[in-house]
Amino acid sequence: MNPIPATSEAGTDQTNTYPMDLQEDRLSIEELISKELIDQRLDELSDEIHKFYGNNRPLMIGLLKGAVVFLADLMRRLNWPVEIDFMGASSYRGETSQGTLELTGNCSLPLKNRDLLIVDDILDSGNTLARIDSILSESSPKSIRHCVLLEKERKRSGTVQAEFVGFRIPDVFVVGYGLDYQEKFRNLPYIGKIHIPETVEDK
Ligand code: IMP
Ligand code: MG
Repeated sequence: MNPIPATSEAGTDQTNTYPMDLQEDRLSIEELISKELIDQRLDELSDEIHKFYGNNRPLMIGLLKGAVVFLADLMRRLNWPVEIDFMGASSYRGETSQGTLELTGNCSLPLKNRDLLIVDDILDSGNTLARIDSILSESSPKSIRHCVLLEKERKRSGTVQAEFVGFRIPDVFVVGYGLDYQEKFRNLPYIGKIHIPETVEDK
């Protein structure tokens, strides 16, 4: 069978390409990690995961919404029939942490005696992963481990550590590849540091 791409007029419009139009928001984004580097690191990360788990097949639990892009790309590099689930966790409004974590959805698959691999976009204060760990522990999984695309170099109070880390970055606010600023920019193909003029921040 030869599938035929269902092209449409909308699909042929080449005007909506990167770089994004940021004029309206008066923001600027400086590329920190290119799409090519992310691709390369994901190849390595999937090797690390294969080596670590061997024939065990962890259930991957993505944290919405930030982990969506990372999880989608990572799981397609794994060599077993991957199972995924999602939890919704939100701790940020704009650029600053709220300090509290809002849970917006829980797993639907059975977790008892499963190896769980939590996948998140970024390890910042560690509050999110600590809270998610304690919730998941109640279901008596066999193990809980963590895979984050980014880890910020900063002090964190808790004991949570990520066993698998894509990149360690300075303590700056980043967007793209799933990460957002006020819900935007998750679709940038690279990771960038966002510059927010004070007048925009104060809005
Ligand atoms: P933590 O609970 O402080 O570790 O924060 C983790 C969550 O905060 C991540 O899953 C992100 O959703 C969000 N977050 C932390 N730093 C950034 C950032 O630089 N850009 C976008 N989101 C961030
Ligand atoms: Mg998040």
